[in-house]
Amino acid sequence: MCGREKAKVTKCLFPVAGLGTRFLPVTKEIAKEMLPLVNRPIISYGVEEALASGCSDIIMITGRAKRSIEDYFDRSFELEQLLKARGKDELHDMVVGISNLAEILYVRQREPLGLGHAVLCGEPFCRGEYFGVVLPDDVFVGDVPVMSQLIDVHDRLGGTVVALERVPRGDVSRYGIVRSEVVEGGIHRILDMVEKPSVDEAPGEYAIMGRYVLSPSVFPLLAERRLGAGGEIQLTDALRRLAETEPVWGVVYQGRRFDCGTQKGWLAANVQLALEDPDLRKVVLDVVKASQ
Ligand code: UTP
Repeated sequence: MCGREKAKVTKCLFPVAGLGTRFLPVTKEIAKEMLPLVNRPIISYGVEEALASGCSDIIMITGRAKRSIEDYFDRSFELEQLLKARGKDELHDMVVGISNLAEILYVRQREPLGLGHAVLCGEPFCRGEYFGVVLPDDVFVGDVPVMSQLIDVHDRLGGTVVALERVPRGDVSRYGIVRSEVVEGGIHRILDMVEKPSVDEAPGEYAIMGRYVLSPSVFPLLAERRLGAGGEIQLTDALRRLAETEPVWGVVYQGRRFDCGTQKGWLAANVQLALEDPDLRKVVLDVVKASQ
């Protein structure tokens, strides 16, 4: 596949219909994707990453209690007019800028049947073409957007590509774990994978993190609606079967990941990123100092 015309991955799915049980009670009524990460909602980091990686069409798979995501990326005329009338031009431009960020389509996943099912809900928009998937709980910070690192490998080698990270043995049951062989620096060919294995069942030490470039061949596999870990339709199970017929690559991504899907991870991400912000660093340090 080397040397072929640069494949276009222009569509990106954002499955955000999960219940967010690890964030209860907040997620009883609030979308965890709308919680602030320093100065903007968690979801905007993923959207900015997809856009910076060349994906122009964003498709959100939403569910109950996720309306605020649609409202956030929509125009808000009343607020815009009010800010204009009060001479708050900078804030006005920021608010308008958010609604101009991207064309976003919304699809409802009526029942949270699992990540695999959420991806299947995006099929009408991605039929016949490779597409990106961003799980916005995983926030990546670094020089080169992680989605663009995956798209680069897809452009060179073709096929499906997932982001990989080596995880401690004790953490394997939280992730999809792969068995793979290294083909070149930082790139693995994936031979097998298991969703949320026990330590004894884990086929390796690399875990799939929340970024994918997927082959459209995954849709018929997902459409079989086989149930996997947790009684859900798992994307990992479909990818495992896909790897039997098509190449599935793993990229050990460059950058840092913050797991904003749990209260502890979200808090740690806020503290760390605030410490790296010239305006906020002193605030955090002063609080810590005062508490000692
Ligand atoms: P998670 O496994 O993190 O589930 O989903 P969750 O519901 O968000 O959170 P917990 O585990 O209950 O705390 C991974 C991604 O898949 C989406 C989620 O929104 C998240 O982005 N997802 C999951 C769906 O869109 N639909 C589903 O049925 C399940």
